[in-house]
Amino acid sequence: MNYMNVDYSTKIPNNVNLSEDRQVLKALEGWHPGYMDWWGDMGPEGFQESLVYLRTAYSVDPRGWAKFDYVRMPEYRWGILLAPQEENRVVPFGEHYGKPAWQEVPGEYRAMLRRLIVIQGDTEPASVEQQRHLGKTAPSLYDMRNLFQVNVEEGRHLWAMVYLLQKYFGRDGREEADELLRRRSGDADSPRMLGAFNEATPDWLSFFMFTYFTDRDGKMQLHSLAQSGFDPLSRTCRFMLTEEAHHMFVGETGISRVVQRTCEAMREAGITDPTDVAKVRALGVIDLPTIQKKLNLHYSLSLDLFGSEVSTNAANAFNSGIKGRYKETQIDDDHQLKNATYPVLKLVDGVIKRVDEPALTALNMRLRDDYSQDCIKGMLRWNKVISTAGYQFKLTLPNVAFHRQIGEFKDVHATPDGVLIDDATWNKRKSEWLPSSDDGDFIASLMKPVTEIGAYAPWISPPKVGIDNRPGDFEYVKIET
Ligand SMILES: [Fe+2]
Ligand SMILES: [Fe+2]
Repeated sequence: MNYMNVDYSTKIPNNVNLSEDRQVLKALEGWHPGYMDWWGDMGPEGFQESLVYLRTAYSVDPRGWAKFDYVRMPEYRWGILLAPQEENRVVPFGEHYGKPAWQEVPGEYRAMLRRLIVIQGDTEPASVEQQRHLGKTAPSLYDMRNLFQVNVEEGRHLWAMVYLLQKYFGRDGREEADELLRRRSGDADSPRMLGAFNEATPDWLSFFMFTYFTDRDGKMQLHSLAQSGFDPLSRTCRFMLTEEAHHMFVGETGISRVVQRTCEAMREAGITDPTDVAKVRALGVIDLPTIQKKLNLHYSLSLDLFGSEVSTNAANAFNSGIKGRYKETQIDDDHQLKNATYPVLKLVDGVIKRVDEPALTALNMRLRDDYSQDCIKGMLRWNKVISTAGYQFKLTLPNVAFHRQIGEFKDVHATPDGVLIDDATWNKRKSEWLPSSDDGDFIASLMKPVTEIGAYAPWISPPKVGIDNRPGDFEYVKIET
């Protein structure tokens, strides 16, 4: 069997020779109907009969792995795809540094590995649930198609984690796989595991912020797990990253197009002050200060996903060779962090300070810093759109102490500039920094669906290029078939 290509002749497409792995095949086939029920209940609302121009992975070769075609979402071929096995791969960090990578779960790390896989797995269906109602207000068929692409691929990422659970963790793996279909985003009794995945995604600006900021947390986590000494996890995550890139592209270009449209509308109307919210909103576009508030919200929620700055769990996962650092193999050090330190932002006597901590326990902080650096790139491009339009306004990432529920700053309030403030000031001023219900109502008032071919809602610019190089008047979704 050619492990680059995917076998589509079977019910569950795969490049892991599933047809010869009877037990796992049986487990996955047993799980499949529950997944389809979940997709029916919690996947995109409506449009399940529509033909959507989707890409499907048919190979894991990064140079050409996707094929585009019209597909009804429930007929999407969710499958198991692992990046090819690297010959003689070794554990690239931790206590077992330089030893052969594991092809089976090392017994002593079983519980830790399972936990990490379940947490990653839980985020995948959660985002589909969070976004399920957005199809109805899509600003164009192009955007609707992108939403559904993201959704089916998050579904596939769930399959990816379920495969690992069912293949390598026996009975408790199968139980965890069932639990992944049982929890629901935002449910009071059985919520998803992480905070940001229980928040609402009420509108399309939130969707773009989510795919830019929260999918990017996913990228960082997947990169760290792609380093894992447990080779099947590494290979799974490496291929997931290939798909994930598109999700962040949707976010980055989505925000860019909103900013672009706002700036154009302000110019046409002769508005010189972009902070004149009422005047800008009267044009039917989203004012830049509100975009900043949405950014503040999604960035701070996403920072929480990195966990506590100082964490023995993170140290253990690294020592064990289970979860590495971002771009571990490109880092020039001992890959064991025996004597290294890392500067951590902490609250010391009521002041935010950098304190050197053992690098091993500061791994969450380090990954979060890498994440913030990665977030800045797109933001600079949005700011370029604003400055090119002639406006003096800069979007910025809020301080890490702002609006946090996890870690060092969870018990204090800070402004986006990182000035600590008391409860009363926070309550009085928070609507300057986070979307208020009025802001939400205004954005909601713009969310009118546009389903004519080649047309776009008036609050967002068309994309520069189409998906799969399709022309501007391409019918990305055939709603009535
Ligand atoms: Fe994902
Ligand atoms: Fe994603």
